[in-house]
Amino acid sequence: MIGGESLIQATLHQLKVFEATARNGSFTRAAEELFITQPTVSSQIKQLTKTVGLPLFEQIGKRLYLTNAGNELFSTCQDIFERLENLEMKIADFQGTKQGKLRLSVVTTAKYFIPRILGSFSHLYEGIDVSLQVNNHDQIQKRMTENMDDLYVLSHLPEDIDLITQPFLENPLVVLAHKDHPLATQSQIPITALNNLPFIMREPGSGTRKAVQDLFTKNNVSVQVRLELGSNEAIKQAIAGGLGLSVLSKHTLNSEGINSEVAILDVQQFPIHCRWHIAYLSGKQLSVVAQTFLEYLLTQSPPLISPIPKGGEYLSLVS
Ligand code: PGA
Repeated sequence: MIGGESLIQATLHQLKVFEATARNGSFTRAAEELFITQPTVSSQIKQLTKTVGLPLFEQIGKRLYLTNAGNELFSTCQDIFERLENLEMKIADFQGTKQGKLRLSVVTTAKYFIPRILGSFSHLYEGIDVSLQVNNHDQIQKRMTENMDDLYVLSHLPEDIDLITQPFLENPLVVLAHKDHPLATQSQIPITALNNLPFIMREPGSGTRKAVQDLFTKNNVSVQVRLELGSNEAIKQAIAGGLGLSVLSKHTLNSEGINSEVAILDVQQFPIHCRWHIAYLSGKQLSVVAQTFLEYLLTQSPPLISPIPKGGEYLSLVS
């Protein structure tokens, strides 16, 4: 018993309305998401608050904040709904169909191949809906701490989050320049030749940026950062526009044809050898759908190069 009543008296509907309100931080957005009116949201929250016996939200200015009790209830609701969803997927599995929602969060460069794999996966399992989030390393790490997705694809594994991980694809980071750049015709360029050259860097929070900065620091290389951009595509355009060099995953060139204006430079110590990992939170009960995708991804990926290429080491950078 808490407050005046038992929480057993709360209805699943009230919990759903509360969860949507807390997640959206707004009564109006929760009403829109659930296709109900705003007064219905308010009255459901009011009844739930009465059952709990403590306020669930605080309104400061226009913003809605969760109280401590609200926060506790929010994470309990997320647990309940995740378990119910998993149960639904298990029942569909017992009935011989794979059905349900797959929540996948991938780093920016993984978007060059994951959608293709998702395409063939979705053809095979038509009952599975997919939500794909594309974020940089820091944003993915934040989503992990909030348990927002089933599976994550990234190269640079955070050290302070307990994860189950499996490498599945090489992710070489290469130096890119305009195809007419004087270095484009040279081979075995020493890394120090990059000193003071104009450079386009990924944004703070990017794992690629961190890998590049670490390698430059180790080799006392100091480039002239002219531009910081949060998009691999925008960086390729900037290179094509002659704004400088950059280091990106080789996969960002997947969509380039033979007429590409961007060339890979043969710089010593490159590529930086990284691998993509598929990861999930340790202790997480993977849903049937997530487990099915995990197995599919691992069987569809080309075998990893082994052993580690000469002179290189695989990065598993910490943030
Ligand atoms: P990012 O990718 O540069 O988009 O953060 C990092 C990674 O591959 O893990």
